[in-house]
Amino acid sequence: MSRYAEELRTTAKAMVARGKGILAMDESNGTCNKRFDKLGIPTTEEYRQIYRSLILQTPELSNYISGPILYDETIRQTTPDGVPLLKIITDAGMIPGIKVDTGAKDLAGCPNEKVTEGLDGLRDRIAEYYSMGARFAKWRAVITIGNGIPSRGCIKANAHGLARYAALCQEGGLVPIVEPEVLIDGDHTLERCWNVTDETLHEVFNQLYTQNVAFDQMVLKPSMVISGKDCPQQASVEEVAKATISCLLKNVPATVAGIAFLSGGQSKEQSSAHLNAMNQMFGDQCPWPVTFSYARAIQQPALDYWAGDSSRISGAQTRLLKRAQCNGAASLGEYSS
Ligand code: 13P
Repeated sequence: MSRYAEELRTTAKAMVARGKGILAMDESNGTCNKRFDKLGIPTTEEYRQIYRSLILQTPELSNYISGPILYDETIRQTTPDGVPLLKIITDAGMIPGIKVDTGAKDLAGCPNEKVTEGLDGLRDRIAEYYSMGARFAKWRAVITIGNGIPSRGCIKANAHGLARYAALCQEGGLVPIVEPEVLIDGDHTLERCWNVTDETLHEVFNQLYTQNVAFDQMVLKPSMVISGKDCPQQASVEEVAKATISCLLKNVPATVAGIAFLSGGQSKEQSSAHLNAMNQMFGDQCPWPVTFSYARAIQQPALDYWAGDSSRISGAQTRLLKRAQCNGAASLGEYSS
């Protein structure tokens, strides 16, 4: 048992506290720059600093957000006027989190599939992040649905990586967010997504068990069971809610501290509507809180509006808060668009 077990349990519960979710803002510099580039925002550290400060200084953000997930650059940054972002976060009563994987790379022997890397040196990085004040971490594995994939090899390699990461986090005092993302890309049906998500979650929990990860000291960040984005027949909100919850109930132990979904390229309205339907229709059947850990579905309207313009910071914050509020309501089954 981790010497941090009690603290980990408390943190995990706080991450999925009633009416709140997690704000993923841990885009790597590469991904952040790509999103900036599309809007003509300079892809410099200065603009990333302005943007991340804008997000974290949004008034009342902590009413709906338990904690943000940061990237290595961000956890070391200050606001443009010199206040450490970590101080902004903790002063607002939020818990700082940190992405610790180093990205999804081509998986040898499994064409067109990826494996997430980052285990080398992870114990030391966790120790440093803990000493800085981080209290939870994230690692994202990616499963692609396509012709003949995912392979067993890909699912097993990614599940093993997630479990090794989660065990190291708990040893070092960080609550692991375990994120196996089944991608929305492709023309697959809802049923195919259900089967792949079922196999993936089964293997992830098998590996977590094998590596002695404590389920009550972790948060699962799954993708929803949804039609592929190019599938001609798109499942309804109710169908997505039903399929997703049935897959989770089959595979996720009741002791897991909470479920916090990724948005995975769904529109902002869809992301809120699906989460809301799950809580409205099945909330009383779920042994864990079911909430959000969205990046794009919370940030995109704010980023589009700001677009690098210093006179638009307050308007961007209003838009960010709006999505946080909508998703906070959806986590209670009280969202209306
Ligand atoms: P999206 O909500 O944009 O899918 O991002 C969540 C996330 O953290 C991906 O790792």
